[in-house]
Amino acid sequence: MLTDGPVLLRPYRRSDAVAWSQVRRANREWLAPWESSVPGDWDEVNSPATFRWVYRDQRRSARTGEGMPFAVCLHSDGVEQLVGHINVGNIVRRAFCSGYVGYWVDRQVAGRGVIPTALALAVDHAFGPGGLHRIEVNIRPENQPSRRVVEKLGFREEAYHARYMHIDGAWRDHIGYALTSEEIAAEGGLLARWHRLRARTP
Ligand SMILES: CC(C)(COP(=O)(O)OP(=O)(O)OC[C@H]1O[C@@H](n2cnc3c(N)ncnc32)[C@H](O)[C@@H]1OP(=O)(O)O)[C@@H](O)C(=O)NCCC(=O)NCCS
Repeated sequence: MLTDGPVLLRPYRRSDAVAWSQVRRANREWLAPWESSVPGDWDEVNSPATFRWVYRDQRRSARTGEGMPFAVCLHSDGVEQLVGHINVGNIVRRAFCSGYVGYWVDRQVAGRGVIPTALALAVDHAFGPGGLHRIEVNIRPENQPSRRVVEKLGFREEAYHARYMHIDGAWRDHIGYALTSEEIAAEGGLLARWHRLRARTP
């Protein structure tokens, strides 16, 4: 479990099925423009029954070392609410030691710094116990909120990927952002950097 203030990252549980389905179904318009195209109806692919497959897939990727998936939760007064998702995926070891991060958060809690905090926690975990050296985040140019997340944290903009990924029904361009462990080591990690940056914001 990784935590900072009210933000908590933990492995998914089988019992998350209903909460996961509710938040996904309620956020269709919010999430669909930015997510990989999936065949089928939104409510169906985000049903509690589908979560069983999502859960199994995430457990498998965590076990094989291909991914580091986390439920993003907010907790206060002993109550925990599942509000989003973050995953370090497509992990390649050996001479790469790299992974790609994807994330989303419930529209109801957007704009409170939940995902920058989650990303900082996930990156520190990936560079520390996870043994990775490089993290990439690829974002559609139109996705200003997501670009703000990585730009606030100081990811480097380093690539433009034309027709990179099939999102919301078409091949979409993406901007590539990246960070390597050396870039944040002297600052004590990405969470420490995020705390310092937040403290400076009026
Ligand atoms: C991108 C996303 C994960 C950001 O998460 P977050 O926890 O809201 O991040 P932040 O609180 O740092 O807000 C980021 C930016 O969103 C914008 N924002 C703030 N409140 C907002 C709201 N209620 N609605 C829309 N955008 C908002 C602001 O530009 C903010 O930047 P700022 O801090 O410079 O003002 C979230 O908007 C989301 O889930 N979007 C839909 C899915 C998605 O885009 N996933 C990423 C694909 S690459």
